[in-house]
This record gives sequence, C-alpha cells and structure tokens, in this order.
Amino acid sequence: MRFILTLALMLMVQSLDNGLGLVPPMAWNSWNKFACKINESLIRETADAIVEKGFLQAGYSYLNIDDCWASKRNSSGFIQPDPKTFPSGIGQLSNYIHSKGLKFGIYSDAGLKTCAGRPGSLFHEKEDAQSYAEWKVDYLKYDNCFSDEVIMTKTRYQRMRDALNATGRPIYFSMCEWGIREPWKWANAYANSWRILPDIKVDWSWIETIIEQLLRISHLGRPGGWNDPDMLEVGIGNLSEEEEKTHFAIWAITKSPLIIGCDINNLRESSRKILLNREIIALNQDRLGVPGKLLLPYENDKLRVVYMPLDNTDLAVLLYNRSNKPIVGGFIYRKVGWPFRAAEIRDLYLQQEIGPYDYEYYTVIPARGVKVFRLRKPASTPSLPIQAEQ
Ligand code: GLA
Repeated sequence: MRFILTLALMLMVQSLDNGLGLVPPMAWNSWNKFACKINESLIRETADAIVEKGFLQAGYSYLNIDDCWASKRNSSGFIQPDPKTFPSGIGQLSNYIHSKGLKFGIYSDAGLKTCAGRPGSLFHEKEDAQSYAEWKVDYLKYDNCFSDEVIMTKTRYQRMRDALNATGRPIYFSMCEWGIREPWKWANAYANSWRILPDIKVDWSWIETIIEQLLRISHLGRPGGWNDPDMLEVGIGNLSEEEEKTHFAIWAITKSPLIIGCDINNLRESSRKILLNREIIALNQDRLGVPGKLLLPYENDKLRVVYMPLDNTDLAVLLYNRSNKPIVGGFIYRKVGWPFRAAEIRDLYLQQEIGPYDYEYYTVIPARGVKVFRLRKPASTPSLPIQAEQ
C-alpha cells in the first residue's frame, strides 16, 4: 500500500500541472517572418495590429517574442534584454502587451546558448523563471540548441518545468525539442506542447512531410499536452491559396497550436481570410479536446480523411487531396464514426450549408487542397442508427 502511495505521489510530482493548454494556444510569434530583426517598436506595433485587425477577437491571444531579445547575464546571473533593440526593458513591454488585452510569451533554450547564440537557460533556470514571473510572462518557448553532451534531454526540460512551477505563476511551457526523442510518447508530463519535427519552411514538399508525420500521431495529443508541428507559414511566403488553406485546416483539426507569424500590417486578403476563418478556428478550440484522427487504412493513397468529434455531438471531417490534380473523394458516415443515416453538411471554407445527405458524401477536392465539413444531425429527418439498418 505504501509503495502504491509513493508511486502515485511520484507520478503526480512528475507531471506538469499548470492548468494551461486545455485547448491549443493561438498566438503570434516573431520568428518565421522577422527572425532576429526584432525590436520593441515592432513588437508594440504588432500588438496594436493584432487587436485592431480582429486577430485577438478571433482568438489569437498570445504575443510571443522568439530568439534574439536577450543579450547577456548580469553579475548576479540574471538575463538582460538587448539594450539596443529592447532599451525599455521586457517588463515595460509586457505591461504594454497586457494593456492591449493580450498575453505575453518569451523564448529561451535548454542549452548553453540559444540557436542564434544568445545566452541559454541551462543551469540558470531558477533565475530565468524568476525574471519571467516578474515580467508577468504567460508563455515560454524552450528551444534545444547547444545542449549536446551536457545532460539528458528530459532532465534539461524538467529543470525549467520545475523552476516555472516554483514561481507560482502559470506559464504555458512549449517544448521545442524538434521531435528528436519522440516527445509525443512522453512529454505530456513535461510540457503543454512539444515540437514534432525540425523547423517548418515555405516549401510545400517539407510541409507535406510534416503533415504526414502529424497525421500519424495526432491522436496522441490531449488537453494540457499537444503535438506542435511548428508555426504557420500562412501569409509569409509564396504558398498558393489552396496550400495555405490545407496548411491551416490540418493544423486546426489536429489541435495543433495556431501560431501565426506574418506581418499583420502587410497581409494579402486571401491569407487574412484563412487565418480569421472562425469556423475552422472553432474546430481547433473545441472544448471536447479530441484531436482529429486519420482514417486508416487508406483506400486511395492520394486522399487523407481526418475526422474529429465535437463537443456538441457534431462531427468535423476533412478531406485532403495530396496530388497535383483535382480528385473526387469523400467519406462514408459509418467509417468516420457518424452513427446516423443522415447528416446536414456545412462546408467550412465556403461557409455554406450544402444540404442533407444520407450515408456518404463525395465531392471534388482541388489539387493539394482540402474540403472541411461539419456534420449535424438533421432536426426534422428521423435519423436511424445506421447499424440498425443493415
Ligand atoms: C530553432 C527553433 C525555431 C526558432 C529558432 C530561433 O531553430 O526551432 O523555431 O525558435 O531556433 O533561433
């Protein structure tokens, strides 16, 4: 009995219990567009734009600074912001961001240096966590550079997890370990989300690879611990509109963090519409917290079908055409867990009802494109359980 109690206590102590990430975070992050070219006026202007252009209202509530904000440690070991680019200090900036109704995120590294060569937090976790709490930080992205042959990965992340917990301030902990040690199998006890692969770039074949990996493991995410396929490239490079729609919808339905990085003040209209599509965002933020699941086995290797139950008993279904030509594809209700004969179907990108259908639905899916649907039980049609009919 004592052994079981001790074991239960050990498991409790070992888990991350900050109450955050019940749904995936929605954020803006500086890295994908601006890399090291950041400063406090850019961040303030971005905070203004997130609010003024409707992004906060749509759910993007964190503003996260990535690498290159820090310069060196002072004689007591506390980290200092770069005096040239952040002369007013991080506390002031955080106050400004909070005054806009946003939450504030920062970046560091579980190694000796960050990837851009700024000081890392390894062996300074307590001082850094203390600074973050003083600056009212709400989110920490914690990278993995300059850590080889130092100490074990789990120990490095655990040190910061515990230092954050000890501050008493709930700080979302985003582990950026790039998927090297298959964190989807263990990181739930360490972080609120974990990167599953190296950095995304504006390159469709790499994004396709990320999608394939993500769909294989999406079902392992859950409230408080999400797979992170990296930040969104929507509105940043030259992906086509269909590619951007696919990228965004697959991130949403797999319950991945939705972290945008575009220049909000210079955003093309098609990208803006995608990022602000409330019906797709609603899938990501649905309170049931069950990520979309890949339908297996594939009957057609060009098509991926992903389905996700929703809090109000609706069902989301996504059809993804991997090929470079339009195809006809669809789904049979019974196979995606829809227990009724009929469904009212709504197309979430067209934002249109496309009518009631029985048993199945097929349509044309554009090249490299998706169709995303919400199925509702029809009010007027008596919906017989399909199994009973067979
Ligand atoms: C790593 C991370 C990126 C970004 C850069 C910053 O490559 O994976 O997301 O934070 O470092 O240097």
